[in-house]
Amino acid sequence: MTYTNLAFDVRDRIATITINRPEKLNALDDDTIAELGRAIDEVVSRKDIGGAIVTGAGAKAFVAGADISQLATQGSLDGRARAMAGQRIFSRFEQSPKPTIAAVNGFALGGGLELALACHIRIASENAKMGLPEVKLGIGPGYGGTQRLPRLIGRGRALQLMLTAEMTDAAEAYRIGLVNKVVPASELIAAAEAMLKQILANGPIAVGLCIEAVNRGLDTTLEEGLVIEANHFGLIATTSDMREGMSAFLEKRPAAFKGE
Ligand code: COA
Repeated sequence: MTYTNLAFDVRDRIATITINRPEKLNALDDDTIAELGRAIDEVVSRKDIGGAIVTGAGAKAFVAGADISQLATQGSLDGRARAMAGQRIFSRFEQSPKPTIAAVNGFALGGGLELALACHIRIASENAKMGLPEVKLGIGPGYGGTQRLPRLIGRGRALQLMLTAEMTDAAEAYRIGLVNKVVPASELIAAAEAMLKQILANGPIAVGLCIEAVNRGLDTTLEEGLVIEANHFGLIATTSDMREGMSAFLEKRPAAFKGE
């Protein structure tokens, strides 16, 4: 598949999706969002890919937001349609059974932070700056920020970030649980690859079901979430990966999972 505004590279079962409009600080115009949709579909469908890292080109920005030049001309109907299209695509990152890690290499603002929030894990470089500054532009977040941010860091902190439009630095983002880890900029991609490799050594069906149980469980009652978990626990017992994982432990050797 070919991309214009993204680079898509695959090495050692890891796809690296790089948003590549550095002259606009990787701002997400509609075409770039559509390409992100194709990229996550490619990750999910290709058997030679186990998971993905999402990052931004250049040293300055992950993504500095939705492309304001496009937002500036929107009316109510196309604005709503734009939000829904972006939301659907970002949800595909969240719902991917293959793990996605955002490697936040600089500004992650507005739609950029929303993209990182849709990924399963976030690792930030020490120079990263994150926020949802939409209210400064007289709009609100449109690609899931009002929903995913409070689920991740709690209502009060999420509202503070949204209502003040302030940017948080990497250390504070780590303190409030917005990012999982902070590393020097020069080590960012290596750190994301190392974490993804650690995940990819585990049973892929089990990994996918953990993602699904967390996603679905957070949006339902504890009781229903526990049923989802128990159903997964039963389902996984039918896989040869479960037998391989347990045999490997008992035989004191690394497991060789096949995803079946
Ligand atoms: N949409 C469109 N273009 C953007 C953009 C965005 N979200 N963010 C940055 N750019 C463009 C700038 O317009 C500029 O383009 P130009 O060189 O053609 O004028 C280029 O990227 C570089 O940005 P610049 O503002 O000159 O860099 P800076 O270092 O002075 O400031 C930021 C960096 C991130 C603080 C600033 O670009 C900014 O506030 N961006 C918008 C953030 C935002 O509100 N995002 C939410 C959008 S909903």
